Amino acid sequence: MSVRMELRGLKREFSDGTRIGPVDLLVDRGELVTLLGPSGSGKTTTLRMIAGFIRPQAGSLLFDKDNVLRVPPRERGIGMVFQSIALFPNMTVFQNIAFGLDMARWKHEDVVYRVEEISDVLRIRSLLYRHINEISGGEAQRVALARALAKQPRVLLLDEPLSSLDPQLREHLQMEIRRVQRSLAITTIYVTHNQTEAFAVADRVAVMNEGRVIQTGSPEDLYESPRNEFVARFLGSGNVFSGRIEEVREHTVLVSVKEHRFEVRGQGQVGARVCFTVKPEDVVVANAGASNGYPAIVLSVIPQIGSHRVVLDFDGTQVVSLLTDSELVRQLSGAIGQRASIRFDPESAALVEPCSG
Ligand SMILES: Nc1ncnc2c1ncn2[C@@H]1O[C@H](COP(=O)(O)OP(=O)(O)O)[C@@H](O)[C@H]1O
Ligand SMILES: [Mg+2]
Repeated sequence: MSVRMELRGLKREFSDGTRIGPVDLLVDRGELVTLLGPSGSGKTTTLRMIAGFIRPQAGSLLFDKDNVLRVPPRERGIGMVFQSIALFPNMTVFQNIAFGLDMARWKHEDVVYRVEEISDVLRIRSLLYRHINEISGGEAQRVALARALAKQPRVLLLDEPLSSLDPQLREHLQMEIRRVQRSLAITTIYVTHNQTEAFAVADRVAVMNEGRVIQTGSPEDLYESPRNEFVARFLGSGNVFSGRIEEVREHTVLVSVKEHRFEVRGQGQVGARVCFTVKPEDVVVANAGASNGYPAIVLSVIPQIGSHRVVLDFDGTQVVSLLTDSELVRQLSGAIGQRASIRFDPESAALVEPCSG
């Protein structure tokens, strides 16, 4: 039976002074939360504290109402898949999946029943009697997942489970993991540094930076309303401008960015240094001849699925826009290094904090 898991102020400082935490995070029963952050942000350490391999110096870890920090790792009821899958190479798939059950002294017939049951869920029944060196990378991932799930854990922890696979297989297995996780309704944390992957599999995403969870929300929430500059930049969802508040209006402020002024959603004090973000799809680009808009230099025009990505330089700030108008794209492609203009509605620009300026 899976649990509601809550990390409250979990903290660990390593001897070299590296600090992870305090980490606060709630994962509801049956929910899949992705922990998304750059390399070194503390994702693996957080999982290892949950699993019991690293002892936190402060905080609590609740499985439903019980603090399990004093429970030995083996008894926490956690299934784990690591970044580098450590299957036993000299054993069969069956033996790999059965390993934990044998260790727990399950009766042989129960082991057989459970291994067959979980291998049906993962669709690897036909591989059970192969050796590990006779299966592909994608199949090995399924076996690792089956092994983690064999003992019916209360919580599943996945640490960059697909990072060694090629993109197509990765996308396919993301959906498979999601399917299996839903069908078992198992409380799951899925660690990745890849935004697309995090958004594809998550009920909710927790963004981690410098040892702490800095924003949590649905993929839509995070994309639409990054609360700070780091999240906006890391998710690639926001062009980030910095300037100073010049005037405060009812629901907006007027921000001066060098000699230009932008009206932006949000509140603040006159004179304050602030950053604001605008999503690429909200940046309107026009030819240099356009009557309104701010001047910017076209740096590149890159085709991608469904649109073109146009990168411009606005007085030292890089601005990305997504364009679908093929005539405009053609014109801009012929105008690399030349002037165009950008603009956006005040409604689509939002202040974010904190701001490194
Ligand atoms: N045992 C350890 N001793 C000292 N520093 C560590 C140890 N484990 C991790 N760290 C440091 O903690 C930080 C977070 O590491 P990690 O949790 O592995 O990040 P991530 O998984 O997000 O890439 C890094 O700076 C790393 O060097
Ligand atoms: Mg890691």
